[in-house]
Amino acid sequence: LSWKDLFPIEERLTYLNTASIGLMPIETFEVMKDIVKKKATNGYYQKTLEQLRDDWTDWTNQGAKLLDAKSEEIAFTFNTASGINYVLSGLTWNKGDAIVVNDQEFPTNRFPYEALAAKKELEIRTIHPQDTRVTLDLIKTQLDEKVKLLAISYIQYGTGYRADIKEIVEAVHDIGGYVLLDAIQGLGAMNFSVKDTNVDFIASGGYKWLIGPYNTGIFYCKEELLEKLQTAAIGWLSDTEFLGMDYHKFTYAKDARRFQQSMMPTFGGLVKSMEIINNIGLEKIEKHIFNVTAYLINQLRSLEPRVSIYSSCKPDERSGIVVFEIKDAEKLIEQLFKEKIVVSLRNGRIRVSIHLYNDKEDVDKLINQIHKFIK
Ligand SMILES: Cc1ncc(COP(=O)(O)O)c(C=O)c1O
Repeated sequence: LSWKDLFPIEERLTYLNTASIGLMPIETFEVMKDIVKKKATNGYYQKTLEQLRDDWTDWTNQGAKLLDAKSEEIAFTFNTASGINYVLSGLTWNKGDAIVVNDQEFPTNRFPYEALAAKKELEIRTIHPQDTRVTLDLIKTQLDEKVKLLAISYIQYGTGYRADIKEIVEAVHDIGGYVLLDAIQGLGAMNFSVKDTNVDFIASGGYKWLIGPYNTGIFYCKEELLEKLQTAAIGWLSDTEFLGMDYHKFTYAKDARRFQQSMMPTFGGLVKSMEIINNIGLEKIEKHIFNVTAYLINQLRSLEPRVSIYSSCKPDERSGIVVFEIKDAEKLIEQLFKEKIVVSLRNGRIRVSIHLYNDKEDVDKLINQIHKFIK
């Protein structure tokens, strides 16, 4: 059995575009169909408060397993942006505090800091890497005691660069700052662990490499920082009392449920996808991705100099994303779409993403078309 068989992939489609949107497993599709059907036919999500509590326990357990975290450290969100904004609205900011970012981040991982900085008179320090690599050395040039937060992607959306999060976290902690990781391009694909990296906060949408539905995401806050994060995004689940509807005074839940604004059944779709990933195991998925991307890199190299690989190919800097440059990239994309081969164009370059449902055959189909294109 190939992992491809777990997905209802349209016939003849060669899908190499998880960095935009991930496919969804058949089992998750069934969960989502059931949710939509119930919504249309029964309306009421037929569960008692006790059952909802059990759901919550199952969901956070599954999320904790995925991140190698504690279930008390997990909440569910609607996207990456909401998790980032929980951290920004939750920390206490003083005039002059600095936030370190870099110029390769996706806008979601830049704009919220700029907006906050303008409002609270904070300093934004932007790193400008000369190549695709957001290295520890570059980050260190911006670190001093004024830095309260470093925001960085685990995997860069435009290059596939995988940062050494463990080392970066250590350096930021040394000066008393926190690290907020945008992990949407890595969670579900790479063998990531919060215990290993010691990162403080993680925000990620669930609809790319986590192979979950739209409108879902996961948020992680390290246990010892939970009380510090008095986020402004509060809902009825954020209270100490689980789903308490009687009139009473609000107090933040001690665990990450404090970030939970509401409990939507669609999160169950994400949890099903995480369960599938957890059952296969991140180690195996990562190994598969590295095998297929190594093959892709080799095949692309054989097309040099017409094709030039832009991503770093160093083993510890690679990910599921491989980006290359080619003349008339827009035209190539058009030709690929005609052949039902899906990749994306980012900043004038071609971005190929390899996940558990991709294999060498997919790569061969892509390479064949590039061959025809440059002939
Ligand atoms: C690094 C990164 N962060 C965030 C997002 C999207 O954020 P959201 O989940 O809030 O839509 C993307 C989407 O491409 C991304 O690549």
